[in-house]
Amino acid sequence: MKNALITGITGQDGAYLAQWLLQQGYRVHGLVARRSSDTHWRLRELDIEGDVTLIDGDLADVSSLTRALEASRASEVYNLAAQSFVGASWSQPLLTAQVTGLGVANLLEAVRQVDPKARFYQASTSEMFGLIQAERQSETTPFYPRSPYGVAKLYGHWLTVNYRESFGMHASSGILFNHESPLRGIEFVTRKVTDAVARIKTGQQKELRLGNIDAKRDWGFAGDYVKAMWLMLQQDTPDDYVIATGRTTTVRDMVEIAFRHVGLNCEDYVVIDPAFFRPAEVDVLLGDPSKAERQLGWKAGTSLEELICMMVDADLRRVS
Ligand code: NAP
Ligand code: GDD
Repeated sequence: MKNALITGITGQDGAYLAQWLLQQGYRVHGLVARRSSDTHWRLRELDIEGDVTLIDGDLADVSSLTRALEASRASEVYNLAAQSFVGASWSQPLLTAQVTGLGVANLLEAVRQVDPKARFYQASTSEMFGLIQAERQSETTPFYPRSPYGVAKLYGHWLTVNYRESFGMHASSGILFNHESPLRGIEFVTRKVTDAVARIKTGQQKELRLGNIDAKRDWGFAGDYVKAMWLMLQQDTPDDYVIATGRTTTVRDMVEIAFRHVGLNCEDYVVIDPAFFRPAEVDVLLGDPSKAERQLGWKAGTSLEELICMMVDADLRRVS
């Protein structure tokens, strides 16, 4: 039985990845940061809370990472923990650098010391493309991050590449485009929209305040994307892969899909609020996942319409 350690197991991807690894027969360990209130709701929604071993620790504290690696005896380490909300990275740029950036260095060093043969996955992001330098972004497209989050992730990405090249570690970086699910955090735009649609439909909310609805994203389903993470660590050779659907949609059109699903017209409810605009925007993201299709045999399997309807239905169940 293989052991895996997931940092960020209480987050959206961590929960789905834990479920997938359990299904593959792994013993799953998860690093959990200390919080004053409970953060395990996603593990409970997937009914796997009792099946994983949780270990206290924080990406900013390398001693806790060393202990977690020793305790878990992990042969696969998935680094999903981060301050992952782009908007908050302008109000907390140093925390974002510390956790999302330097946290990767802490974990790579801990892996190198405890078991340099362990396979390592870094959760990189399409935010690194930022001000895009090519219409469709692939593994060879130059990066131009547009937020403190994107800058911190770029450090983590290059450090992963560097540890692979310097020390021969099996370290791979998944450049994942936006992926969503009913377990998405409420601050991200898709879930903010689907939660609002459910509340408006049931008479608990009157309007939905949004920022830049002209932004375009390449949105997929998180449940599909965690399988790509696992596939990367099953390859003989570590590498970097873009994971995306290859289709881009405006926030405006995504909002329309959500309202239409419950028979409402979004124009009656959406209010544009400057408070939700960002100091610098990533206007459009569109991934080219052909390398992942070719080498990993991975392909996105859920359309945006299916995804948004799944999220609206889950939120309707929650608020009813
Ligand atoms: P998420 O839901 O925000 O989860 C982040 C996780 O990190 C949570 O479990 C959180 O714990 C944990 N965490 C935060 N600070 C920590 C610290 N100092 N020490 C230990 N754990 C800490 O994010 P996600 O959507 O699942 O994304 C997973 C990873 O993929 C992130 O690194 C994100 O940046 C990256 N990514 C996401 C997407 C996407 O579209 N979802 C795309 C590309 C890359 P708490 O629950 O206690 O806060
Ligand atoms: N959150 C939010 N709230 N975004 C809004 C709103 C709003 O009210 N109104 C418009 N938007 C726009 C944002 O300006 C952005 O252009 C787009 O919706 C998507 O925003 P988010 O859902 O917050 O995601 P993100 O693209 O900034 O970041 C997510 O994807 C990255 C991968 O590209 C996060 O999951 C990151 O962690 C991830 O790396």
